[in-house]
Amino acid sequence: MRLRDATPADAGAIVALLIATKESSVPELTDDHDRDARFWTDRWHRYLAEGSRAEMSRGDGFAILAEADGRLVGFAAYHHTSRHGADAELESIYVTKEAQGRGVGTGLLRTVAARLSADGSASLCVGYDSRNPYKRFYAKHGAVEVNPHWAVWRDLPALSRAAYPTRS
Ligand SMILES: CC(C)(COP(=O)(O)OP(=O)(O)OC[C@H]1O[C@@H](n2cnc3c(N)ncnc32)[C@H](O)[C@@H]1OP(=O)(O)O)[C@@H](O)C(=O)NCCC(=O)NCCS
Repeated sequence: MRLRDATPADAGAIVALLIATKESSVPELTDDHDRDARFWTDRWHRYLAEGSRAEMSRGDGFAILAEADGRLVGFAAYHHTSRHGADAELESIYVTKEAQGRGVGTGLLRTVAARLSADGSASLCVGYDSRNPYKRFYAKHGAVEVNPHWAVWRDLPALSRAAYPTRS
């Protein structure tokens, strides 16, 4: 697996992965708006070119892509924020249904934690749908729920160093 930084030109591939992964992983939480590839490609292009416009964002935006045999198998996106008293927000983390459960998501999360630690960030928040069964990924990696829709890691250097068991 190879990790690389996304550029705005990757927006279309990110959105294709997002839509396919939502439809296969959480179909019960996927609606027509989630499937609007043009809307989301514009949104992701702007995120990567101009930065996040999310509430309390500090106006930057990054994504790390995971590729295997030249194919995109996952990505994680983040920006700096002051939401929930954290230094950064994990905007999204997705791994294709076929590649899930093999450590790709853990590798992406640890890389985000390492990048943020290196720039002096100490904490990371993440928002999610409380019905999403995949939210256990965050708890497994030590995020603490601050309410039913948000969790926070308060020690990013520890997250970047931690080793976690994953299914083979
Ligand atoms: C969440 C996600 C990014 C994790 O990436 P991954 O490569 O599958 O994760 P890893 O192999 O590194 O780690 C495995 C962990 O992921 C989570 N996970 C993987 N497959 C899962 C599934 N089918 N159901 C629930 N959680 C799952 C679990 O926490 C699992 O560890 P556990 O079984 O010990 O609890 C990925 O599974 C995904 O894209 N899910 C769907 C998209 C999504 O809902 N993303 C937002 C999460 S709220």
